[in-house]
Amino acid sequence: MNFARYARHPFWQAVAILVLAFVVIEWGIPALPGSAIVPASVVLQYMATVLVGVLIYVSDSEERWALFKAPLHAALVEPRLKPVRVTGLVLLPLLVGAVTLGQVRATVQAPPSLRSIHPAPPPEITFRGKTMTLTGLENPLRARPDSLPAFVAEGRRIYYQNCLPCHGDHLDGQGHYAAGFNPLPANFQDNGTIAQLTESFVFWRIAKGGPGLPREGTPWNSAMPRWEDFLTEREIWSVITFLYDQTGWKPRTWEKTGGEMRDAGGGHD
Ligand code: HEC
Repeated sequence: MNFARYARHPFWQAVAILVLAFVVIEWGIPALPGSAIVPASVVLQYMATVLVGVLIYVSDSEERWALFKAPLHAALVEPRLKPVRVTGLVLLPLLVGAVTLGQVRATVQAPPSLRSIHPAPPPEITFRGKTMTLTGLENPLRARPDSLPAFVAEGRRIYYQNCLPCHGDHLDGQGHYAAGFNPLPANFQDNGTIAQLTESFVFWRIAKGGPGLPREGTPWNSAMPRWEDFLTEREIWSVITFLYDQTGWKPRTWEKTGGEMRDAGGGHD
């Protein structure tokens, strides 16, 4: 048998069309500009469609159908093709077994990395060029209890001018823009946010926003702005007093242990 005879034989034509179709779908389409890998399930669908087309073609006339079947029939019965038969009988179950195994085998894989909502804050930050030590830092406005109502009022104004669109009228994270963000803006009424944080942690988050989050705070992109660029240190402490006053939560305090200050806030969700 020479090549031209193979090329005219319906069986080998069918094999060639299937191989060609697979090559085009698996490697040809992804190579086009702007295309991506074709998912395995779609490859399977395309191949099934091509196979149906090929079967329609080979069974189109009695003569072609008989020609098409001949090599299959020969492989199953002719004594000289016994090696082909045996190879097929061994390989086919092995292939089915391998595919089944691949589907049911439990894979050992690291769990997806979860975003840590309250990552450990840095011990100190630079706020507008000034170094601030966060560890043990208290809200300085609380040292002036007489003026506290005025600071809360100032914080309220700052909140409604800046934070409302995301954190919402009720401080519940349901601002008008909230639905557009993932992660969602923090819900300060929930006991999982400022209720379990020290004011120094809250200061750090407001000052540095999403861009200031360490690596554990990713992979999600936080929309929380860096307020350091827009608010003064006093204004940030004021808005913090407002957040606690309005929600009724008490800030987490720094515990004294053996004369040393220890962070009582933070924690992972
Ligand atoms: C553009 C929307 C947007 C605005 C405006 C915004 N925030 Fe946020 N904020 C977020 C998002 C989103 C998160 C949650 C993701 C994160 O922790 O960074 C967040 C988180 C926070 C957190 C962290 C809470 C926690 O539990 O760690 C604080 C505190 C906070 N915001 C305060 C403020 C204050 C105060 C203002 C106004 C001065 C403000 N935000 C304005 C989007 C915003």
